[in-house]
Amino acid sequence: MDTILGRKVLRFDAVESTNETAKELLGGEAEEGTVILAERQVAGRGRHGRAWFSPPGGLYCSVVLKPDDTNVPLINLISGMPVVKALRHWSVLATLKWPNDVVFRNRKIGGVLCEGVYRHETFWVVAGIGVNTNTPLDRLPTEVRGTATSLKAEAEIEVSNEEFLEYMLRDFDKVYKASQSSARNVLARDYMALCSTIRQRVAVETPHGTVRGSAIEVTPTGALVLMDDTGKRIEVEDGSVVPA
Ligand code: BTN
Repeated sequence: MDTILGRKVLRFDAVESTNETAKELLGGEAEEGTVILAERQVAGRGRHGRAWFSPPGGLYCSVVLKPDDTNVPLINLISGMPVVKALRHWSVLATLKWPNDVVFRNRKIGGVLCEGVYRHETFWVVAGIGVNTNTPLDRLPTEVRGTATSLKAEAEIEVSNEEFLEYMLRDFDKVYKASQSSARNVLARDYMALCSTIRQRVAVETPHGTVRGSAIEVTPTGALVLMDDTGKRIEVEDGSVVPA
């Protein structure tokens, strides 16, 4: 079967944010499957308006997707899976903190920012992926240094970003195709196998306030399901998991 993701890779030395570059090029130079890759970003963005510090050494890329429907939460969910699989391939047993924070021993090692955009009546999703592959941790600001780690620090090897990207995209291609077919029904189960939030007592900061409970599952559309102390089932569509 033809590989869609990564059939074209546009490489940049420095950009503000690969997500922004991808959005500028949508439908022109950037078609479905195009990857924007940069050595560094000067205004990298994370979820919930946070900054993503992007010194040389880390992997910063955005994958252009043209899904059949507008199910961004599902794509948001599955986009972290290839990052975890690639890190595990190089022996770092990372997990996903719902929805797509990539963590190892409670330290952040990667993250995903998915953005849905309409251009000329076509719906696109830009999946921005940042991984601390060879990021010099001492180049990160002090406020994140204590809670971040890198592949190089954990595995004590240097994996080239090109090699990491190639491995990750091969897996991303499979999960993306599954998300666009009837196989999407098993993706939540595959996701849960990689997600360390499940079966934990958590607090989730949502746009409507903080909710607490035991995380019991993730729905096929990507919502986290909590059971609160009264046994009530609560579905959370967006938020940040913090210690309960
Ligand atoms: C997060 O965990 O908050 C998400 C981080 C996403 C960072 C990546 S790096 C490549 C792409 N470009 C950006 O500006 N952000 C994403």
